[in-house]
Amino acid sequence: MSVDAKQTGIRKKGSKAQPAPKAEDTSEAVSMDEVWIEGGRKLRGSVPVSGSKNATLPILAATLLAPGIYRFTNVPNLKDVSTMLELLSLFGVRSKRDDDHGLFVDSTNARNAEAPYELVKTMRASVYVLGPLLARFGEARVSLPGGCAWGPRPVDLHIKGMQKLGAEVEIEHGYIVARCDKLRGSHISFEISSVGATGNILMAAAVAEGETVIENAACEPEIEALAQFLVSTGVGIDGVGTPRLTIHGARHLHPADAAMIPDRIEAGTFLAAAVITGGDVEATNVEPDHLGAVFGKLEEAGAEVYVGERSVRVRAPDRPQALRVATAPYPGFPTDMQAQFMALLSVAGGTSVITDTIYQDRFTHVAELQRLGADIRVEGNTATVHGVPSLSGAPVMATDLRASAALILAGLVAQKETRVSRIYHLDRGYERIEEKLQGLGAAIRRVRV
Ligand code: UD1
Repeated sequence: MSVDAKQTGIRKKGSKAQPAPKAEDTSEAVSMDEVWIEGGRKLRGSVPVSGSKNATLPILAATLLAPGIYRFTNVPNLKDVSTMLELLSLFGVRSKRDDDHGLFVDSTNARNAEAPYELVKTMRASVYVLGPLLARFGEARVSLPGGCAWGPRPVDLHIKGMQKLGAEVEIEHGYIVARCDKLRGSHISFEISSVGATGNILMAAAVAEGETVIENAACEPEIEALAQFLVSTGVGIDGVGTPRLTIHGARHLHPADAAMIPDRIEAGTFLAAAVITGGDVEATNVEPDHLGAVFGKLEEAGAEVYVGERSVRVRAPDRPQALRVATAPYPGFPTDMQAQFMALLSVAGGTSVITDTIYQDRFTHVAELQRLGADIRVEGNTATVHGVPSLSGAPVMATDLRASAALILAGLVAQKETRVSRIYHLDRGYERIEEKLQGLGAAIRRVRV
């Protein structure tokens, strides 16, 4: 496939630059709201879980692969989803939400353009457009996402994978610039299990000529959901949900509709909230099969877990017991639940040990939990948590998405008032969390400061 610069909107090396479409700098437009919590109420009742953020984001990027109209349901109303739609709008993809978590996406007139730093830096998952742009237009120009609050998060596996499929990839002025005449199926063996790299390669391989095998593919339910979506658009994929994926590239894909899977991390967060407050909570619109490792740890902590078909109920013990928790790729304990469990274990009876094997320094929440009275010591990628009988409310600052959730959980049990600032992190991944917690009896409100 030869790529015409006019058609792609992308500057060839040495050619005159086309001005990139301007993206709104969302980092400046963030909400300065705070969440104020009066701790000490046991949560009780039923709470609906929204659709999965991490499944929605790659599926939206995948609409670039086949021009046409898509209808999605159970789409969470989140900042990250808006950011992905804003990014797609730069490529001419139009979208419209309905009132009931439905979303229409029209990629009929999609064109190539760069994925600018201003947007990519606000959401790393923007890098998911690399594979689809390369596959559809033969060229992609995507900003490197840079680090995040808890250290460097490389994208080398995404790049190596694209190279294996036949793309030439260069880093130019902070941008990944990938080009190919034709993507060709290949054998890719990841040294680390990566959700993002697996998703990106899946999307590129969907239209590659021939067969692609991905070994040590991520098995997270969100990748399974992406693979199933691609299958419904006409791609042949064997081994969906396993670490060995075989993708039979298709010449022509067609649009398809999809219902987003439930957000297992949001569900796990509500269950942890039930246990930290000594409550009794049922989470509905849940896929219990996705939460095995979390249920196991809640039971070890002394909670009773009742699993329904699409729901789960957790009854807390008087005080949670200390645990050893090590994060691992799915089906292991999710790193995205590590911070919430640290909050929970900060009031457990005994000493807990939490190791994050996915991210070596995902501990920005520790200093804030300490402000609430938690007794936590970090060495390398391991935190030792000496459970204290109670926490005491204080102003704290959210540092990232899951850290924010951990601070909310701690605030639910801390004496007096906890004020969590910088909650724009929370809005990236939790839909109306304060309203949902209010529904369970929490004294929590969003305050414009
Ligand atoms: C996804 C999730 C994030 C979750 C993470 C791990 C989305 C949008 N985000 O992030 O919430 O915390 O999975 O479950 O789905 N790595 C490399 N090189 C790469 C890519 C990754 O070394 O090119 C490393 C990372 O630094 C990390 C590990 O691989 O140590 C796993 O990261 P990965 O699964 O890729 O995370 P994300 O897809 O970014």
